[in-house]
Amino acid sequence: MKVIVAMSGASGAIIGIRLLEVLGKNAVLIASKNAKDIIEYETSYSYEALADVPSKVYDNNNLSAEIASGTSKFDAVVIAPCSTSTLSKIACGIGDNLITRVASVALKERRKLIIVPRETPLSPVVLKRMYELSLMGAVIMPPVPAFYLKPKSVDEIVNYLVGKIMDHLGLEHSLYEPYTE
Ligand SMILES: Cc1cc2nc3c(=O)[nH]c(=O)nc-3n(C[C@H](O)[C@H](O)[C@H](O)COP(=O)(O)O)c2cc1C
Repeated sequence: MKVIVAMSGASGAIIGIRLLEVLGKNAVLIASKNAKDIIEYETSYSYEALADVPSKVYDNNNLSAEIASGTSKFDAVVIAPCSTSTLSKIACGIGDNLITRVASVALKERRKLIIVPRETPLSPVVLKRMYELSLMGAVIMPPVPAFYLKPKSVDEIVNYLVGKIMDHLGLEHSLYEPYTE
């Protein structure tokens, strides 16, 4: 499976990082300028070290990359974390960088698009765009912890969130224990 992991400039960089670690060479990476800054600010990872994990890294300004075309046979796009700016652009059909372009391609080609928007509270503008994207077939997956699983650490919460993304990609994992009665 080939998954495009896109990281945009929202808090929660560790979610995209953990997803990359789980997918390994099945992933390719695009990170926006602000995402790169936030990776360094919020985590102990450097963008350069992270770039070794996926099979390929793309420049977000490179709109000539092969994945910018619907002829490229990727299976899914996951934007984690997703800024409200990137989310709103996708909902409006704006493809001004490689992240928003591959999301547009996923929508037009009816491929899986999973968006992990991180913001709180949510304005009517963003709620409306989320609703529209959901109707278009995107999966809107805010990074909300499953408190009922009684997480003991941020790490456990991140694993749960990435596990849910893997569930929607249809990929096996052991990132969280499902709820039992
Ligand atoms: C440290 C930092 C944290 C940010 N966190 C968020 C956030 O959680 N959600 C959000 O929508 N924007 C956040 N922003 C603002 C976005 O980075 C900004 O709107 C940017 O233009 C998004 O562009 P991009 O999606 O192309 O990365 C943050 C910015 C900085 C510098």
